[in-house]
Amino acid sequence: MNSKILNSQFSILNSQLYHMSERLVVTGSQWGDEGKGKITDYFACRADMVVRYQGGNNAGHSVMFDGKKYSLQSIPSGIFNPKTVNVMANGMVVNPVSVIAELEKLHNQGITDYQLYISDRAAMVMPWHSMLDGASENLKGDAKIGTTKKGIGPAYTDKYSRLGLRMGDLLDPEYFAERLKAALEVKNMELKMYGLEPLDYQQVYDQYMEIAKILGPRICDTSLLIDDAIHSDAKILFEGAQGMMLCIDHGTYPYVTSSCPSAASISQGAGIAPKWIENVVGVAKAYCTRVGEGPFPTELFDETAHEIRERGHEYGTVTGRPRRIGWFDAVVARYTSRLAGIDYWALMLFDVLSGLDKVKICIGYELDGQEVMAPPSTIHKLAQCKPIYIEMEGWKEDITGCKSYDELPEAAKAYVRKIEELTGTKVGIISVGPDRSQTIMISESLKAF
Ligand code: GDP
Ligand code: IMO
Ligand code: MG
Repeated sequence: MNSKILNSQFSILNSQLYHMSERLVVTGSQWGDEGKGKITDYFACRADMVVRYQGGNNAGHSVMFDGKKYSLQSIPSGIFNPKTVNVMANGMVVNPVSVIAELEKLHNQGITDYQLYISDRAAMVMPWHSMLDGASENLKGDAKIGTTKKGIGPAYTDKYSRLGLRMGDLLDPEYFAERLKAALEVKNMELKMYGLEPLDYQQVYDQYMEIAKILGPRICDTSLLIDDAIHSDAKILFEGAQGMMLCIDHGTYPYVTSSCPSAASISQGAGIAPKWIENVVGVAKAYCTRVGEGPFPTELFDETAHEIRERGHEYGTVTGRPRRIGWFDAVVARYTSRLAGIDYWALMLFDVLSGLDKVKICIGYELDGQEVMAPPSTIHKLAQCKPIYIEMEGWKEDITGCKSYDELPEAAKAYVRKIEELTGTKVGIISVGPDRSQTIMISESLKAF
């Protein structure tokens, strides 16, 4: 199958096979770190292709199997299956230095047999991006966003101001030189404005030409690869990064990332028509976490937060920062389900809630004396929202070994049903531990993927 994708890279399409291709989307539906890596890896074992369509190495996706834990930043979570074609598509901002480091780390962990392609149209993260990210955060002081300082915002800014360099530019040294000179003329002024040392053209040029030698063979028009996969009998998995509440359009602006993690951005970010997007799995923790600044209506500051943080090892994969903890927010879940067209929830880290006497779910917000059922547009108003909770019985049993829904304690089942009722979206998957094997597949249609 995979050789078919590659061999037919520029082939005429076989329309008779249209119906045979299947697509599945894995998208974050809270503030990121929901467990997308685990779910993507779970399905990747059966997928012919895994596509990352936005974000960059601000993501940290953990995958665990056979007793080993892996952490990925910009490389798709299908990398562990040698038969899966992994694509870093045009909607990403690709830091080639970080990609090389990630590949080296994977090699050292014994992952040497993989397929990886990078879009020639993907925006390239350049050395000035992380410098400007850090400087701009420092300048903002208390109003900082709490970015990962990977240069994601500045890289997307350059893309949209049409000053950016793209991965494909590496394949044409003369053109790359021209683009780099033009960009540095402006960027060095910006760096100086922040009191930073300007970058030396020749040094950057030489560094990136070395990078081109390593990554060059992987750079191609990935939209063609995906299109060929669509028109053959391929199973394609789209792996979102971040989460919908960090979306540049629909998230808690300005405390967001600079891309749109939703299924809605796949078409543009992967270079395929919107009609090919189907089967959306919204990954959501059984509670909520957030790393970085910005309003978080159900945030907890008590002993329960501490307990959940320690039990769930809630520390950032990329920055190591402690994650903020809160109860499951059904207002957020309804909102993101609607915006991303979520067909099923993958309810993650369910085991972490075991042992609590009571569990709470936020069903609405009180704002200016009124009950509101969707997040307001400004963080100013969101910060004033008071969560309205229902309280449910907790469960004491260890559920990490449960293999089916039926094996879950009654109180845990009631919690799952309540989430379905409040969000109008079915729970298709329940995750009861970080390992690939600790996954309860409920949905028959997801089982069939
Ligand atoms: P992602 O960014 O959405 O891929 O999520 P991260 O990998 O950043 O964070 C999720 C964390 O939860 C990782 O450390 C996972 O290994 C872990 N994890 C995933 N699912 C489960 C689960 O069901 N139970 C527990 N205890 N940990 C989980
Ligand atoms: P995954 O894919 C959690 C957060 C940062 C910050 C804001 C902006 O692992 O779920 P950025 O560096 O993107 O400009 O930072 O977004 N953020 C994430 N939080 N998980 C992520 O990715 C995140 N990627 C960015 O903490 O608040
Ligand atoms: Mg993460």
